[in-house]
Amino acid sequence: MHVGILTGGGDCPGLNAVIRAVTLALINECGARVTGIRRGFLGLLKREVSMLDKPAVAGILAQGGTILGTHNRCDPFHYFGAAGADVSDQALAYARELGLDALVAIGGDGTMAIAHKLSLLGLPVVGVPKTIDNDLCHNDRSFGFDSAVAVVAEALDRLETTARSHGRVMIAETMGRYAGWIALEGGMAGAADVILLPEQPYQLEAVVQRCREREAIEGYTLICIAEGAFADGGDLTVAQTIADSPDPLRLGGVGAVLAHQLTPLLQSEVRATLLGHVQRGGSPTPFDRVLATRFGWHAAELVQTGGFGRMVALQGDRVTSVGLELVAGRNRPIPAGHGMLAAARGLGVSLGV
Ligand code: F6P
Repeated sequence: MHVGILTGGGDCPGLNAVIRAVTLALINECGARVTGIRRGFLGLLKREVSMLDKPAVAGILAQGGTILGTHNRCDPFHYFGAAGADVSDQALAYARELGLDALVAIGGDGTMAIAHKLSLLGLPVVGVPKTIDNDLCHNDRSFGFDSAVAVVAEALDRLETTARSHGRVMIAETMGRYAGWIALEGGMAGAADVILLPEQPYQLEAVVQRCREREAIEGYTLICIAEGAFADGGDLTVAQTIADSPDPLRLGGVGAVLAHQLTPLLQSEVRATLLGHVQRGGSPTPFDRVLATRFGWHAAELVQTGGFGRMVALQGDRVTSVGLELVAGRNRPIPAGHGMLAAARGLGVSLGV
């Protein structure tokens, strides 16, 4: 059996742990030959591959990033290198030439959408959910998320001491695209006083009120805001537009916008910190190492049992799988009735409403 592995979309902590687990399980359990496709789907078009054997995956479990490289603009069905043309036949032809019996695609919703289309065209694909945003459907937790939350929590811990010392309002802006999971869990873990999420447009007045209450008593305020959050009646804050990307909007800067809005309305000084790609880099937490390893092993099982066209998923504490068609191109916002929102409110955290 010959199996290809690729990592698509933005990188995240735990990718190497999956690559290692898939490779070791396939070699140990069925003597498979494993090939790494470099730079996501671009490697299938540019014919860039490298052999994955036991020495190649030794010592990578705790390494951040991906040893295979990745690409978040390459969609063979709308290829940026061919003015948006569909060149999927080239990708399929190369997979056939390599003699791949299966492809394990590790990525987010965009990667799963491509994997789904390739699988409809006959390529035996297994997906593995990756994203710090934790926004893939039918999957309770993607690896990388816990690592990102740990960065946010540590940042808030650090911002707390300087906020307290200066009597300031400190704003930490997290990643997460259109879902607020990182801000919600990171904010709770770092004891934020205000957490602002994309799922619920914030009322500036409500944020001002909480900051004023705290000015009068505690003397400082910690705000954790998701990059996709926006004021009621306002717009998303877009940092950049990447024209030839399947997902062209890059969000960022809403923390600075909020600081600008709050400054004239408060006595305290306000500062904003954009956490940015620091949340995506570095070594995975032990939780993410274990989750990524479980996902990788499960993906290898699906390959060996012919469970193609499916994505590995965590549901409760069980690793299972779901059809790619249920995941492709969709995302998973925080449901309005989520228990952690109720817990936040119960603890007196303002959600800006
Ligand atoms: O999807 C992961 C993510 O890190 C988002 O949270 C963020 O909006 C985006 O990717 C950033 O993308 P890029 O690396 O292209 O700036």
